[in-house]
Amino acid sequence: MSTPPRTGEAGPAFDVEAIRADFPALHQEVKGRPLAYLDNGATSQKPRAVIEALRDYYEQDNSNVHRGVHTLSERATAAYEGTREKVRSFLNAADSREIVFARGTTEAINLVANSFVRPRLGEGDEIVISHMEHHSNIVPWQLLCEQTGAKLRVVPIDDDGVLEIDEYLAMLGPRTRFVSMTHVANSLGTVNPVREIIEAAHAEGAPVMLDAAQSVPHIATDVQALGCDFLAFSAHKVLGPTGIGVLHGKMEHLEAMAPWQAGGDMILAVTFEKTTWNAVPYRFEAGTPNIADTIAMGVGLDYLRGLGLDRVAAFEHDLLAYATERLGAIPGVRIFGNAPDKSSILSFAIEGVHAHDVGTILDSEGVAVRTGHHCTMPVMARFEVPAMARASLAFYNTRADIDALAGGVEKVREVFRLNR
Ligand code: ALA
Repeated sequence: MSTPPRTGEAGPAFDVEAIRADFPALHQEVKGRPLAYLDNGATSQKPRAVIEALRDYYEQDNSNVHRGVHTLSERATAAYEGTREKVRSFLNAADSREIVFARGTTEAINLVANSFVRPRLGEGDEIVISHMEHHSNIVPWQLLCEQTGAKLRVVPIDDDGVLEIDEYLAMLGPRTRFVSMTHVANSLGTVNPVREIIEAAHAEGAPVMLDAAQSVPHIATDVQALGCDFLAFSAHKVLGPTGIGVLHGKMEHLEAMAPWQAGGDMILAVTFEKTTWNAVPYRFEAGTPNIADTIAMGVGLDYLRGLGLDRVAAFEHDLLAYATERLGAIPGVRIFGNAPDKSSILSFAIEGVHAHDVGTILDSEGVAVRTGHHCTMPVMARFEVPAMARASLAFYNTRADIDALAGGVEKVREVFRLNR
């Protein structure tokens, strides 16, 4: 977003129409209008390959993993473990054993909070997060602090939604036990300077977790280059199914962690006297896992890699600049989050209109956006609004989608007689 292109300037070469053909859900009418799906921050649409992977698995390979010597179980296990390697490669992790499958970002954060941080936390210790976090990167730490007497420190953000980095640096100290920070803020689009955040925390001996739910779909992620200790994302925001996601953890940390949930598959041997744990990562995957969705997640990641994250990022950058310009030109529209480095998210309010009314009128125009607090109530408090409307973009969106959004916003102004 630092150098937005001029209006009408052609975006980077990217055959959006060919890509859109792979996404069945995009080709429908809503309320008699062509769907403009701009709620990708909540969940992405799925390419046909992902949908077919789910069907193929259930039609041909359906079986349990790690538990059978029969052919179907071996096929299911190979595909499931093959996905672990795909995710390793996607994140450039050092070892596929560093990839733990979880239900999503939320479960991954809770796992780290309970298995890694809790045993290392005492009264007066500090956990650092930021003011722009999703509730799932606030509440697990809050609970932990309540239970241990530790203190939650919150790095403030400025009026543009940028992290106050000097405040962060000043906050770090010998009591800092852990830092958990979003890479891209879901309600503001701010891209945080995560390398700087990680380096500074490491200098104080504090490990860092990145909530990468909103960055993995848009920015190439290299956990070794980032140097993060843990990173989490959800498949459903990256073209995959709901109910599955990833925790990446450095091997040394995972090896040092006790299980959080217990049951089948996470053990080595069980007697009534003592149970020994399975190796990493199985130690953290109790019970029959979400096999089909894991495999389909891998297919979604393959699709995104095939497009090229750098091309995706450049295309979305151009589209976000266009959307910012279109909405910013409409009187009464207030845009939240004006960080110089922003990704794919445009939150806004229309003066005098509640966000839910904005969302309902936009829906009547075929435009899907999210409205509400976006699971970031502290961000709403920071900007003194009860709710925002949020358009969140993907590589399959077009300028026509943005034009439909801008037309819908004009319609809101008409309905509420704001243009008189
Ligand atoms: N966390 C998701 C969002 O930002 C659901 O919409």
